[in-house]
Amino acid sequence: MAFATRHFVRAASSDAATAAAKKLLIKHVTIIGGGLMGAGIAQVAAASGHTVVLVDQSDEILKKSTKGIEESLKRVIKKKFADKPEAGAEFIKKTLKNLTTSTDAASVVHSTDLVIEAIVENLEVKNNLFKTLDKFAPEHTIFASNTSSLQITKMANATTRQDRFGGLHFFNPVPMMKLVEVIKTPMTSQKTFESLVDFSKAVGKSPVSCKDTPGFIVNRLLVPYMMEAVRLFERGDASKEDIDVAMKLGAGYPMGPFELLDYVGLDTSKYIIDGWHSLEPNNPLFAPSPLLNKLVEEKKLGKKTGEGFYKYK
Ligand code: NAI
Repeated sequence: MAFATRHFVRAASSDAATAAAKKLLIKHVTIIGGGLMGAGIAQVAAASGHTVVLVDQSDEILKKSTKGIEESLKRVIKKKFADKPEAGAEFIKKTLKNLTTSTDAASVVHSTDLVIEAIVENLEVKNNLFKTLDKFAPEHTIFASNTSSLQITKMANATTRQDRFGGLHFFNPVPMMKLVEVIKTPMTSQKTFESLVDFSKAVGKSPVSCKDTPGFIVNRLLVPYMMEAVRLFERGDASKEDIDVAMKLGAGYPMGPFELLDYVGLDTSKYIIDGWHSLEPNNPLFAPSPLLNKLVEEKKLGKKTGEGFYKYK
């Protein structure tokens, strides 16, 4: 009997060890920030059967986010359920049923498996949020940031769960873009990393992994490329129109670098390059551009303000 008990205890504790080593199956997700990215992430997570709470600062913003999600879902079903309108309507109903909203992050994270932060690109604001949520979220909950340019490690260090912290970098527009960059800091556990990879697949995306380095993969290549195009134009070597045509017809890119800069927003691009420049001041790829700075100063921020490198009516 004593042997049986000891055997049982040993078996139970090894079961617990296996469970602890097992990756987490993410079902309940809290998304903080209902803007462009957060709303998109909420949509794909809810559409793939996760229960989602979308958090922002006011009910007014959240109403706008929900309306945007509904409109986007209508576009999705037009393609996905073109000849099955009833199935499409059911898909929207089910997705919206999985989605709730809140203005109080601390009160909704108590039963969440994953928190994805998609708020303003400011380290101090993000750190304050994570620090607070760290006190209210359960032990097992994984935290992830959707940041484009900030260091994940610095955010993880604002919490006590550095091993359960990573980056989940989605692309705009989220429902259309297939890629997610899953970012592993030196402290991210393998179990956390694998859970984030599985979650990315579960929401229909193709994950790639990258260490916590400036720009991860896509922006690390894309931003210096766009900045090099600006420098080429600044030196008077070629017109911006010709550079755009050249990259579209010669490299097969869907947009030229100046069209892309206007689409992304010149302020966003300047913010990213300035941040990297301060990290690596001697790296010529990260050198700021006087022309880009001038356009931002003049509030010519791209498509969103009606003018950037090009004018938009
Ligand atoms: P956005 O400005 O459209 O949305 C941010 C939202 O966060 C706003 O609705 C704002 O009210 C809310 N917010 C701000 N502080 C908050 C707080 N403390 N608590 C709750 N909500 C708060 O910004 P966007 O474009 O969605 O970007 C969000 C994050 O995603 C940023 O870190 C950005 O770098 C990253 N990102 C942006 C991409 C883009 O193309 N816009 C692409 C990939 C990542």
